[in-house]
Amino acid sequence: MTSKETRESFKKFFESKEHRIVPSAPMVVKDDPTLMFTNAGMNQFKDIILGNQPAKYKRVADSQKCLRVSGKHNDLEEVGHDTYHHTMFEMLGNWSFGDYFKKEAIEWAWEYLVDVLKLDSARLYATVFEGSPEEGLERDNEAAQIWAQFLPADRIINGNKKDNFWEMGDTGPCGPCSEIHIDLRSQEERDKVDGLTLVNQSHPQVIEIWNLVFMQYNRKADGSLEGLPAKVIDTGMGFERLCMALQGKISNYDTDVFQPIIKEIGKITGNTYGEDEQKDIAMRVIADHIRTISFSITDGQLPSNAKAGYVIRRILRRAVRYGYTFLGQKQAFMYKLLPVLIESMGDAYPELIAQKDLIGKVIKEEEDTFLHTLETGIRLLDKTMSEAKAAGKEIVSGKDAFTLYDTFGFPLDLTELILRENNLEVDLAEFNAEMQQQKDRARNAAAVETGDWVVLKEGSSVFVGYDFPEYDVQILRYREVKQKNKTLYQLVLDYTPFYAEGGGQVGDVGTLTSEYETIHIVDTKKENNLAVHIANKLPEHPEAPMRAQVDLEKRIASAANHTATHLLDEALREVLGTHVEQKGSLVSSEGLRFDFSHFQKMTDEEIRKVEHLINAKIRANIPLTEHRSIPISQAKELGAIALFGEKYGDEVRVIQFGTSIEFCGGIHANSTGNIGMIKILSESSIAAGVRRIEAITGAKVESMMDAIQDTMVELRALFNNAPDLTTTIRKYLEENAGLKKQVEDFMKEKQTLLKDKLKKNMEEVNGVKVIRYMGPIPVETIKNIAFQLRGEITENFFFVAGSIEVDKPLLTVMISDDLVAKGLNAGQLVREGAKLIQGGGGGQPHFATAGGKNLDELPGAMRKILELANL
Ligand code: SER
Repeated sequence: MTSKETRESFKKFFESKEHRIVPSAPMVVKDDPTLMFTNAGMNQFKDIILGNQPAKYKRVADSQKCLRVSGKHNDLEEVGHDTYHHTMFEMLGNWSFGDYFKKEAIEWAWEYLVDVLKLDSARLYATVFEGSPEEGLERDNEAAQIWAQFLPADRIINGNKKDNFWEMGDTGPCGPCSEIHIDLRSQEERDKVDGLTLVNQSHPQVIEIWNLVFMQYNRKADGSLEGLPAKVIDTGMGFERLCMALQGKISNYDTDVFQPIIKEIGKITGNTYGEDEQKDIAMRVIADHIRTISFSITDGQLPSNAKAGYVIRRILRRAVRYGYTFLGQKQAFMYKLLPVLIESMGDAYPELIAQKDLIGKVIKEEEDTFLHTLETGIRLLDKTMSEAKAAGKEIVSGKDAFTLYDTFGFPLDLTELILRENNLEVDLAEFNAEMQQQKDRARNAAAVETGDWVVLKEGSSVFVGYDFPEYDVQILRYREVKQKNKTLYQLVLDYTPFYAEGGGQVGDVGTLTSEYETIHIVDTKKENNLAVHIANKLPEHPEAPMRAQVDLEKRIASAANHTATHLLDEALREVLGTHVEQKGSLVSSEGLRFDFSHFQKMTDEEIRKVEHLINAKIRANIPLTEHRSIPISQAKELGAIALFGEKYGDEVRVIQFGTSIEFCGGIHANSTGNIGMIKILSESSIAAGVRRIEAITGAKVESMMDAIQDTMVELRALFNNAPDLTTTIRKYLEENAGLKKQVEDFMKEKQTLLKDKLKKNMEEVNGVKVIRYMGPIPVETIKNIAFQLRGEITENFFFVAGSIEVDKPLLTVMISDDLVAKGLNAGQLVREGAKLIQGGGGGQPHFATAGGKNLDELPGAMRKILELANL
């Protein structure tokens, strides 16, 4: 069975069991502070499982793109080295939300694997949770009994909390699980060693393929477990592993999911898979990582220096590095794998096709930058190695290895490899200590302590903000959140007029007022689908009825900026082309920022054109048409623009202003006229193929115009109301440049005249040729004179000056080398002199200067210097 057929057969099977097939959620998570990436099929159902949201369908199945590279589930280091772990993988899953439970879940899993897919039942094992006395949990006898219908008792294996109690993260839904493992070894090997002994022992061919989780608990922040409102089935089957079993392979990378990519890597780099283990590892790493990176970019997560973007950047660098070291790739090459990836996955994931130009550009630029860094790092390492060798050391400092890792993205194993080739080692203890310190720093900076919810009233939260800017509400629950010594409170309301940050638009601010008090809401954010209101203070009477009021002035300004953003999106497509895709957006009461895919800098003319198009639409005062909730198919028929990487339900909201039609949940102006006017302030690049526009609207444009006009009026007045300001200013600038040149010439002349005069006034004291000067002269000039004199009088020469530039005194001492050799030191002398003029300075034994504050003492300071020098 091909991988495509396998994916389809899973969906068909669960459809026949009355499951609703839903699309994969984006791999990059936007509204869950506990997750950066989707790490399991159940993520998109978290709210339903926790009871925050009703389930629309009680039975659901899908194939979900997952990424396990951070947090609780992180497989990154294994990837490539073994044959069955991946960063990105697809998870086939079926769910029951308060409907069927263990019996059906187990029976259907068996039916699908054995009756439908015809996997050999003699090669299957099931694990069940052995219980955990410290958590007060018993062995899952129920699951074991159901398995006993299909499997002999010795193939039902007890598993511990680590393997058989599944948790999404440190907090959240969890429960005992039962895993199905398969033994893919040859008959001969199986006869020698019983598969039973290899389950959960990291054997590459005796592996878990399907995990059936019986969700019953929510892990709270204090570590305790509370029961879920309804029991949930959450199953997850590794798609790539299933394909391996069905295609009779012993490595995920030998299936049709990866082979085309591996072959292409071989072609591009001139290697054959299967000949050399080191090279095979590199090829597996690259084949795995190219999928992860490409899918992240389509989901809107570009490589960057922070958070999720940094994780993606590191994955890309890991692949480049393997290519560099083991496959000899000194030039960017990963971007060339895109066509093959698209050929094999583009059908199931059309977003790859739609964004292929952008993905290619981003990957190529990242590769180029990193290869450059890699070269610099290698040079640095060469230096460290020769220093160590010169010092007769065999161990290189762990600090250096850490700098290479941290600043140059050099993984430790690469540093070790290169060192080993040179008979050197890294001080590992020191490296680990540095690493730990960095982790601690990061943890302390990011540490957020979230308390558990205090529930005042059960119920879900209803958003009424599209229609009402204020509403009578009640607090349902609240909790405390601590970050960086700051305590905030999060409140959930039964009804809320507050818009929670989303779709680029910032969250509303405003107040909650009861008969006792007024609480300020400083922000509103979304956690999954829950609107969370953030306050600096907890109400003293949280249970009292309250009036929730949104700050209308800010809301109206944000709404106008959101509408302007839609018009900008449309105008950019019109002026630049339909390749323009939104890549990020920030809309607040202050202005708007819009990131979009486009491959070169916009010209001034294009920017003007975009502004004019938008301003014309603003003047046309086009009214808002809101399609509050329409089927997604109808939205598509309308031609509405959807965003990649956004999760849409069956019903969507569509915002239309004439020809501008977009999927959008944000707050908008009633008509385009409310925007007033738009002005683009800047257009710049933020990453390969991604540009950023910053703009302001309405009253902000007005203030900017006022400021510009005021400046113009002032400038005109300064230039005697000259009619053509540009020509006048240009003339002044030219004149000024001419004058500057003249002044410089005069100064040079003066310098020579003064130097000659000083030389004539030279005195002989104790056999030393002494020259002194006091008077107003620029610092640079006196310095030049001192050096010229020293060049001309090479022996027995002593120069001291007390010069003044504007009102600052400066002492300068210059001495010929023979006097220095006799013990005179210009640095020491000026320091002594400087004490008198309340200043300080220094320099070298033959030349030094010191500035000060007290002009009156300048003659005294000069006398002191001469005295100290015995002159
Ligand atoms: N949540 C479980 C897992 O990710 C089953 O889907 O393994």
